[in-house]
Amino acid sequence: AAKQIYILVGSLREGSFNKKIANEVVKLASQNLACEILQIGQLTHYNEDLDQGDPPLAWVQFRDKIKKADGFLFFTPEYNRGVPAVLKNALDVGSRPYGKNAWAGKPGAVISVSLSSLGAFGANHQLRQSMVFLDVPMMPQPEAYIGNAQNLFDDTGNLAKDTKEFLKTFIGAYENWVNRPW
Ligand code: FNR
Repeated sequence: AAKQIYILVGSLREGSFNKKIANEVVKLASQNLACEILQIGQLTHYNEDLDQGDPPLAWVQFRDKIKKADGFLFFTPEYNRGVPAVLKNALDVGSRPYGKNAWAGKPGAVISVSLSSLGAFGANHQLRQSMVFLDVPMMPQPEAYIGNAQNLFDDTGNLAKDTKEFLKTFIGAYENWVNRPW
């Protein structure tokens, strides 16, 4: 059966380049990966008090999906050299209550996308740091820093050929990563 891969996008913007690149990757993935974008903007800011009784329904539903996943793909912009709050919040929600980290043991990978030529390097590595702590083995290679994102799409919305080829290589490597005997 195909592996269930959830995609988390760290930008809520309608015209998000991260979202556009995520959609391209979904198209390039083989049939062995069932990729689906998980929404994160609806998750209430993490507050431990809310985990004492009945936690918010959105948290419960999100955690259930994370627990059922075979792996995660993260697409992140960089906000002030770090991971956007909305994405960090999703990591935190999935990591709790204490002792019930829903992320644990599922292989992940990150693609960072920015307008700058630095390709959101800072956010990419900050995300790796948190995920490794959460016991998510993050694919070390190939790394994916997509810079100058505003120049990668033509007038009709087509992604540049070399970027597409790179993303194809990346998602192929990720398929192998997921299929390791974790
Ligand atoms: C940014 N941006 C940005 N870019 C970058 O390369 N490094 C950075 O530290 C920041 N900081 C930052 C902070 C905040 C609050 C915003 C809103 C933006 C610019 C960012 O790369 C740009 O908005 C991208 O288009 C964001 O990705 P999406 O929304 O297109 O997916």
